[in-house]
Amino acid sequence: MGLKKKLVAQVRNPSGKLGRFIARGMNKGHAKLAKWGISKILIKPDYFILDIGCGGGGNLHRFGEMIKDGKVYGIDSSETSVNISKKINKNQIDNGIIEIQKASVSSLPFNNNFFNLVTGFESYYFWPDLIKDLNEIYRVLKPKGKLILVNEGYLCDNTKKRKKAEKWSILGNFHIHSPKEYEDFLTKAGFINIQIFEERKKGWIAVIGVK
Ligand SMILES: C[S@@+](CC[C@H](N)C(=O)[O-])C[C@H]1O[C@@H](n2cnc3c(N)ncnc32)[C@H](O)[C@@H]1O
Repeated sequence: MGLKKKLVAQVRNPSGKLGRFIARGMNKGHAKLAKWGISKILIKPDYFILDIGCGGGGNLHRFGEMIKDGKVYGIDSSETSVNISKKINKNQIDNGIIEIQKASVSSLPFNNNFFNLVTGFESYYFWPDLIKDLNEIYRVLKPKGKLILVNEGYLCDNTKKRKKAEKWSILGNFHIHSPKEYEDFLTKAGFINIQIFEERKKGWIAVIGVK
């Protein structure tokens, strides 16, 4: 396997020593994108938040700092990601603010109508069955709860960024979409009041849907 393929396989499923390095690296590498995405949503101190594909746990930490009476949950299908997230958030886990477990987006270990906010940063690309997985997110959201997807790669107007995203998606065999396609698949999954934010120069997209 070439180096680029190896890298993208690790981003999809961090594992072993390289996976630990990648998961930690993503906390740094995705920080600006994550902060930009988070700035698009109002987070109240009593929110129950779920971050899907939490990776190295950087966003769990950010949310943990923002909530008071609520709680932050993280899931990831990679054991390596879960372990790094737990290490990085040890204090907030001990204080009962954050809880992290290994799980897939396709089968969320939570009750119906539980979360105010579900987030996915650089994660939806790899979800195995997009509409079914979005239905599963819809199930765990409270009525009027929000989903936000924040991504660095999408089919944008910026040709250079779009070509780069397309190249990686082919290499890693994962899906990327245009803003219109985001709107369509979220609508198909039952979400309403869809908002789309683009940072075209950087090739960033943040999409919000409401239950
Ligand atoms: C590119 S990383 C992003 C990590 C983190 N959200 C960030 O922004 O740095 C993608 C993460 O999604 C996880 N992932 C992939 N498929 C998943 C699935 N079906 N369910 C839950 N997590 C998944 C991977 O294990 C990986 O940790």
